[in-house]
Amino acid sequence: MARLDVTEVFHGISFPGHLHTQDSLQFALKFPFQDTDILIVSYPKSGTTWMQEIVTLISSRGDPQFSKTVPNWARSPWLEQHYCAAVLEASSATPRVITTHLPYHLLCHALQGSKAKVIYVSRNPKDVVVSFYHFHKMANFLPEAGSFQEFLNRFLGGKLSFGSWFDHVKGWTSQLATVSNLLHITYEEMSLDLQGAINKVSSFLQCSLVEDELNNCVKHCSFNSMKDNNMVNYTLIDEGIIDHSKGAFMRRGKIGDWTNLFTEEQNQYFESVFNSEMQGCTLEFVWEE
Ligand code: A3P
Repeated sequence: MARLDVTEVFHGISFPGHLHTQDSLQFALKFPFQDTDILIVSYPKSGTTWMQEIVTLISSRGDPQFSKTVPNWARSPWLEQHYCAAVLEASSATPRVITTHLPYHLLCHALQGSKAKVIYVSRNPKDVVVSFYHFHKMANFLPEAGSFQEFLNRFLGGKLSFGSWFDHVKGWTSQLATVSNLLHITYEEMSLDLQGAINKVSSFLQCSLVEDELNNCVKHCSFNSMKDNNMVNYTLIDEGIIDHSKGAFMRRGKIGDWTNLFTEEQNQYFESVFNSEMQGCTLEFVWEE
């Protein structure tokens, strides 16, 4: 199957061209946020789809009907993708749930003064790069993955689609001290204590759940439940765009899968770039379970 990996470069960052255009990216930068909006923000492969499912289930108080009948991209569209305006126009949902992979410096003007609730999801970057590597092998709209060494070099150099992981994480989390409508939650928190993570998100969204509702959220947001839900496992997408013979979107779902792929040299190389890029940053990551 021919690849669809046309790249759209915007403000020096590469985006997959079959979903992103100069117009759609401009649309995002000038987006008129409403104070009731919920914005899920992440670097790819950090648990975006998981958070979309969590927010959907919290909003429906644990009732899976919506999450089992409407695809995630129609429930919480990516702001920078070309179909977003049409999805939002067709929907009467309040609050609107919107997703983005854009770095902070590209969205800060649109968000200035807004009371929209922003949920920033991060994940330890060794697992991010491994997950992204496997995803490149099945996603025909992304450039060829190449060898893992080449891919790692591109990741650490900020050359992959959506730009630098370091800039993304530092940009968004640098706002935590001053912005009250921003919640930072990690993939690892969700993985180690899903119920606690759902409680944290539901209180941020001021949507407290009773015990049964919470239990249903936990059940439907589990890895196995989401793996079987074709509204979030991307099997609805045409094989020419995501080739499911080459892997699964809901792939491993674990903390520390990087240990199965990194060599000792790659780990040392990673650590040296990480330590230099994250100098002065107080964020801590859980690398292994
Ligand atoms: P792996 O490739 O490591 O398995 P995103 O949605 O940001 O693209 O992230 C995808 C990653 O999140 C994949 O990681 C996927 O398996 C994982 N994921 C999605 N839902 C999950 C869940 N309920 N539990 C654990 N991991 C989940």
